[in-house]
Amino acid sequence: MTEYNLIFGDALVELKKLPDSSVDLIVADPPYNLGKDYGKTKDNLEKTEYLEFSKEWLAECNRLLKPNGSIYIFMGIRYISYIYQILEDDLGLDFQNWIVWHYTQGLGKKKGFSSRHDDILVFSKGSNPKFNLDDIRIPQKFYRKINNMRGANPGNVWEFSHVHYCNENRQNHPTQKPEGLIERIVLASSDENDVVLDPFSGSGTTLRVCQQLNRNGIGIEIHQEYIDLTHDRLSKEFNGFDSIDPRMERVPFDLRDPEIREEYLRNHENWFLKNHPDSVEKFRKEVKKLYEVSKVKPKQKELF
Ligand SMILES: C[S@@+](CC[C@H](N)C(=O)[O-])C[C@H]1O[C@@H](n2cnc3c(N)ncnc32)[C@H](O)[C@@H]1O
Repeated sequence: MTEYNLIFGDALVELKKLPDSSVDLIVADPPYNLGKDYGKTKDNLEKTEYLEFSKEWLAECNRLLKPNGSIYIFMGIRYISYIYQILEDDLGLDFQNWIVWHYTQGLGKKKGFSSRHDDILVFSKGSNPKFNLDDIRIPQKFYRKINNMRGANPGNVWEFSHVHYCNENRQNHPTQKPEGLIERIVLASSDENDVVLDPFSGSGTTLRVCQQLNRNGIGIEIHQEYIDLTHDRLSKEFNGFDSIDPRMERVPFDLRDPEIREEYLRNHENWFLKNHPDSVEKFRKEVKKLYEVSKVKPKQKELF
C-alpha cells in the first residue's frame, strides 16, 4: 500500500527539508510567469526574479533526485530555453526529451496564431534513466507481421485534451493537467512503490495518478484551498483517469485473420485501456464497425 504526503508551504522552503537522493521521479508544473490567477501568489515576476526562483527550486530538485532519476518540467515557450540552460549548463543534468503536449482547444487569438501546445522538458541525473516502454506503448495503426502488435512508442508529440469544465473530475484550479498525460510520465519513468515528487502540486493531479498507480507521491502547494481540494480529490472513488490519448482507443486496420484478430482484441483492453473504463465502450463499438459489419475487409480509412 503506497502513501501520499501533501505539504502545505513554499516549494523553496519545503524542498530543502527533504533528504538528498530520496526521489525517483519529479513531475514539476511550476507557474509559467504568464500572469495566471492562482489567488495569493503573483505569477508575474520580473524576468530576473523568475529565473532566480527557477534556479533555486531546480537546484533543490537536483539534490533530491536519486542517481538516474528523471525530472519532467512543464513550461511555456517564453522561459523554456532558459530552463533548458539551467538544467544542462548549471546543473549538469542529461537531456532526454522535449515533449510537445498538443491540445485541440484553447483561446482563439484575433491576431497571430492561437497557441495549441505546451512543452515538457525531460532530463535525468545520469545517462541511464528508467524507461518502461512496455507500460506506455500505443496501439499500432495497422496489423503487419513486422509490427510489434504489443504497441508502438508514443513519440514526443502527445495529444491530450484539457480537462473540460463539464468533466466531473474538473477541479476549481486554473491550470489543472490531464491525468492521462501524467499517467504516461509516471508509468514511463517510475516503478511501483517508487517516490514521485510534484513541487507545485496544484489540484493534485500527480498525487491522484500516483495513488492509482501505487507510487508514493509527495506534493507541495502554497495555497491552502488547493491543499483542501486535493485531499478531497484523493478521497473520491476512482472511476478511471479523466483523459486519454485518442490513439489508445484506435483499432488496428487489416486484422483480417480471425485468429490473430481475436487474440489481439482480447489483449487490447488490458494493454491500453487498463485505467480507462470509459474508453472501452467506444473501442468495442469501433471493433464492431470495422470487423463485424464488414466482416472481411475493413474500410481503408484512418480513424484519426
Ligand atoms: C501550474 S500549477 C500546477 C497545476 C497542477 N499540475 C495540476 O494539475 O493541478 C502551479 C501551482 O503552483 C503553486 N505555487 C506557486 N508558487 C509556489 C511555490 N513557491 N511553492 C509551492 N507552490 C507554488 C500554485 O498555487 C499552483 O497551484
